[in-house]
Amino acid sequence: HFDGYHSHKKKMGDNEISKIFQTRRFYVNNDISGSPLIADQELGEREGIKAFVGMPLFVGDNVAGVLGVFSKSYFSELNIKGLRTAADSISLWIEQKAMEQRLWKQTKLFESIFNAVPDAFVFADSEWKIKLCNQGFVNMFGYSDSEVVGLKTKILYADEADFERQGLIRFNPKAKEQLIPYEINFKRRDGTVFPSETIGTVVKTKDEKGIIGYLALVRDVTLRKEAEKHQRHLQKMEALGTLSGGIAHDFNNLLNVISGFTDLTLLDLQVGSLQYRNLREVKNASKRATDLVKQILSFSRGLEEELRPMAVQHLIKEVVNLLSSTLPATIQVKQHIEPCGMVLADTSQIHQVLMNLCTNAFHAMRQTGGVLAIGLRQEEINSVGFKGLSAGNYALLTVSDTGCGMSDDVKERIFEPYFTTKEQEEGTGLGLATVHGIIKAHGGMITVESELNKGSVFRVYLPIINQWAVDG
Ligand SMILES: Nc1ncnc2c1ncn2[C@@H]1O[C@H](COP(=O)(O)OP(=O)(O)OP(=O)(O)O)[C@@H](O)[C@H]1O
Ligand SMILES: [Mg+2]
Repeated sequence: HFDGYHSHKKKMGDNEISKIFQTRRFYVNNDISGSPLIADQELGEREGIKAFVGMPLFVGDNVAGVLGVFSKSYFSELNIKGLRTAADSISLWIEQKAMEQRLWKQTKLFESIFNAVPDAFVFADSEWKIKLCNQGFVNMFGYSDSEVVGLKTKILYADEADFERQGLIRFNPKAKEQLIPYEINFKRRDGTVFPSETIGTVVKTKDEKGIIGYLALVRDVTLRKEAEKHQRHLQKMEALGTLSGGIAHDFNNLLNVISGFTDLTLLDLQVGSLQYRNLREVKNASKRATDLVKQILSFSRGLEEELRPMAVQHLIKEVVNLLSSTLPATIQVKQHIEPCGMVLADTSQIHQVLMNLCTNAFHAMRQTGGVLAIGLRQEEINSVGFKGLSAGNYALLTVSDTGCGMSDDVKERIFEPYFTTKEQEEGTGLGLATVHGIIKAHGGMITVESELNKGSVFRVYLPIINQWAVDG
């Protein structure tokens, strides 16, 4: 009888056995024929049951159960002594079982905690062979724990030489305590490499003399690295903008002098003379240079913009009309305009943005033909800091094409001034740098999505100044 229950999990009533629980004393009855202690009377009679002993089973100070023994003959003093010894052994066993159960629960708890950590834990023995890892490790590295246990940690390093350079230095009995995380590239089961921040410790025996193994805590920092890269990219763009803005300004002044004096001299020359024609070329070139400088100034935000409330949809219509009449028939122009609020913008600059994006889309489809789609809709951004935008309503302008697309390497650099993949006369590489500068000056943002040979989508977000939407 354990924990106040019969073995068949029926709670005990008010009988001799429950009295033993209460009195905590053993109970002997050498004449129990016909007593309600015998649950199956018929069986008791057939077997000739005569006597009963109940022994409390102590675990610590508590009576954890009762050992009940029925007999066909009377219980002697000696019998009872023997049973008491048996009861003591059973108590001890119960105690051990309870302890095991507590330990098991504790182990399970540790295991759950160990596996709940999203970082990877990996524990290796003194030979750098993996002994144990958590679920975080399985998720991060892609190995199941059964296949990785027993393998050397060397397989985890992206550059195996790092195992020697870093691993053996840090995971070494002589290593000083290293609680500062260090950055290192690891390799997943499928071969992909990821940057990590790792802390390694030597796990020592209790007396600190020997070592049990090495524990590494690995954090995947891919996302953080990407954010940093993005930040660096923005800074670079800004620095380039400032620099070229400054140069463009000086150039602009010089060009004014050149074209001014050219104009003056042209007035004195006979129209059609050789000198006149030569000087006309100088005049044309300086005009082109002035346009170029203007463009540089606009991406470096040196150009004054005239901000007025405007409806982007009217502008799109204008651009679509223009494109439809100029683009070859192999390129289909589509527009999808949804109601959208007004933005505070410089119309000619937004026009330039749209034209630059559409020109690029056209170039991307020149060989193959395809669909150039322009879209406009209103979008609410509420997650603070979504790609650097504050929460609020935005006009989302999309220009997409089904053209050649870009590789990741190209995509990374398209907003840099002078970055172009086109022939010298074909492109200056200033188009998207200008677009980027203009949009930034308008408090907006531009994103790009592109797949090689499939096409590209440019998305421009511009803050909306009022809620009443203008229909398409
Ligand atoms: N829609 C697109 N599809 C594929 N590649 C594109 C697309 N838009 C831009 N690119 C790539 O980005 C590069 C930079 O574009 P950007 O508009 O800044 O300069 P460009 O078009 O080369 O020259 P510019 O616009 O000054 O005449 C392009 O050379 C091209 O490689
Ligand atoms: Mg361009």
